[in-house]
Amino acid sequence: MIPRLRPAIGAADIAAAFKGGKSVEEFERTFATLMGQSHAIAFPYGRTAQMVLMEAMELKGREIILPAYTCVVVAHAIVLSGCKPVFVDSETDGFNMDLDKAEAAITANTGAIIATSIHGYPVDLDRLDAIAARHPHVEIIQDCAHSFAAEWHGRPVQKHGRAAIFGLNISKLMTSIFGGMITTDDADLAERLRALRDHRLEGGGRGVSRAFYLGAAATALAPPVFTLVKRIADLGLIDRFVRYYDETLIDMPANHLVQIGRAEASVGVRQCAAYCGIIDRRRRIAAFYDQALADALPDARPPLVDGATYSHYVLRVADPEGLVSAAARRGIELGRLIDYCVPDMMAYRDMASTQGPFDQTRRLNASVVNLPVWVNKTQARRVVETLHAIT
Ligand SMILES: Cc1ncc(COP(=O)(O)O)c(C=O)c1O
Repeated sequence: MIPRLRPAIGAADIAAAFKGGKSVEEFERTFATLMGQSHAIAFPYGRTAQMVLMEAMELKGREIILPAYTCVVVAHAIVLSGCKPVFVDSETDGFNMDLDKAEAAITANTGAIIATSIHGYPVDLDRLDAIAARHPHVEIIQDCAHSFAAEWHGRPVQKHGRAAIFGLNISKLMTSIFGGMITTDDADLAERLRALRDHRLEGGGRGVSRAFYLGAAATALAPPVFTLVKRIADLGLIDRFVRYYDETLIDMPANHLVQIGRAEASVGVRQCAAYCGIIDRRRRIAAFYDQALADALPDARPPLVDGATYSHYVLRVADPEGLVSAAARRGIELGRLIDYCVPDMMAYRDMASTQGPFDQTRRLNASVVNLPVWVNKTQARRVVETLHAIT
């Protein structure tokens, strides 16, 4: 079975994790160079990075504007930092936050806008810059967990704001097994971030268990093995490894303050070198899907956008669950990424009761299906044939 996601990890990466030849500092320097920024500061998760960033920016007590269509952990990090999330609906012709609505949500107490390039689609930097110029008291934080170095008309999104946050777990475009990163060109902020990080986090050690985890995950997500893994997953037996939220809770993983170590850094350095190849392949596969599905699913296809990095290639269909089940029966796993509207979730409902409406986000939640985009051309052809057969 072809899984919906698989990190671009090979035997040499797993060996590098066990060897642990690189330091976290070297990973930070390599990542900063890749992103064209002066500073990169490593964390165990993107959400930990976000919390420490909000503390370093002294945002406690302030309102933070974020998309309603995003990963729920971003909202968790806001609340657990003592801030108030202000959710904004999605744009009508894409997946990102509606920037007019984001600007309308700004008050005197707004501390920051979290600008997310969701699924790798670059946020409109021209409009974002204009908003920032009109509201100088509002910080811009780029959430690059899906986009990494996505570009808006040739301008990398991560450089447009005080700082950018990245997630580096194995479901991301590039990975350091576990991990998160902040990049910034602001030397004072970088210094504060390092001081806070070193004060808050405990050391992660050499990370042999994390090297084993990487080996196990890469094996489990290899298509021949994944057939069995999927059966086990469908029985709910590995829920504790794959379920990342509980509708009623605002929480963090138990190890969110345990810093990454040499195993993660060694994989991270290798992934920085592989980055261009990873993105290149995703762009080629997205273009292939776009062309190959033009007849069968003309209106379901997402836009092809220059500068997008396609962390996910998402179709919009009337019956996403039906499509996921039919594809699974034919050996293709499709995803239902972000099938929830964060402000509708039980943990956020009261907090967000005067915000919204979130009609466009709900439409996305009820229609998106993500295709495997890590695949090679032969596997992509199988995905397309399967979708043709179903539709
Ligand atoms: C859009 C977005 N932002 C932030 C994060 C947080 O990253 P992490 O899981 O490393 O905390 C995620 C996680 O998947 C995400 O999808």
